[in-house]
Amino acid sequence: MQVNPRHESPIGIFDSGVGGLCVLKEVRKLLPFESITYLADSGNCPYGSKTKDEILSLARKNIEFLLEKDCKLIVIACNTITAVAIDSFRSDYRVPFIGMEPALKPAALQTRTKKIGILATENTFNGRHFKQTFEKHANGVEVFVQPGYGLVELVEQGEQNSEAARRLLEKYLVPMMEKGADTLVLGCTHYPFLKKMIETVTQNKVIIIDPCDAVAAQTRRILSEFDLISQDAGNPRFHFFTTGEKEMAEKFFSFAMDSPCELEQIKI
Ligand code: DGL
Repeated sequence: MQVNPRHESPIGIFDSGVGGLCVLKEVRKLLPFESITYLADSGNCPYGSKTKDEILSLARKNIEFLLEKDCKLIVIACNTITAVAIDSFRSDYRVPFIGMEPALKPAALQTRTKKIGILATENTFNGRHFKQTFEKHANGVEVFVQPGYGLVELVEQGEQNSEAARRLLEKYLVPMMEKGADTLVLGCTHYPFLKKMIETVTQNKVIIIDPCDAVAAQTRRILSEFDLISQDAGNPRFHFFTTGEKEMAEKFFSFAMDSPCELEQIKI
């Protein structure tokens, strides 16, 4: 693949909403000199229950927006979009893409009971990535698959610590724990925002596997492979956009960046 080697161009990150900020946080830790442009498509969230064509069309608009902003690499910080569409995007665009992988491998290595749970959207479970990773890494390990209906919406509304979140998590996680699961894979980038509530509901009895740091490491590897690591140790630039409401998004972005953030509201 041929890319334009512009070291100082930003990394583009997008998600159906604020979930991908967990990835942004890890990317910043590993690549502190990189500029980042993030697009949260919260106005069209959730993607988890949309059709493949709807997801392809929305995600394409996100990508084209980021390419207009001169991004040198794009992180699809969304398991659902990765599962449904990353193969098409890799063949349609010249820019390198990083996607989310279901973290079954680390979970299979850490479980003692040989039983793990995974929480993700329905579209993620239906995608090729999940099936392949499952076949490759679930060897001898029982996997309980649970769609997290309603969780993304609660996070987007800032209700990750609410009673409603607790009730849904209880409904999804208690049955898998009763069957012996001791490890839980977060298969959606919105779910790390529910970590505290997950710990409460599971009484800290499960190991929580969150793949965001592995995705950041892969981002660094690919940037280096394409010779695109920023050479500028000065001030990285951050540009944040949302298709949803600004006020709520600003709270999430400020949290992820550890400082007050301003966003631009856009239509795609
Ligand atoms: N953060 C997205 C993911 O990782 C949420 C999907 C949705 O919008 O339903 O799958």
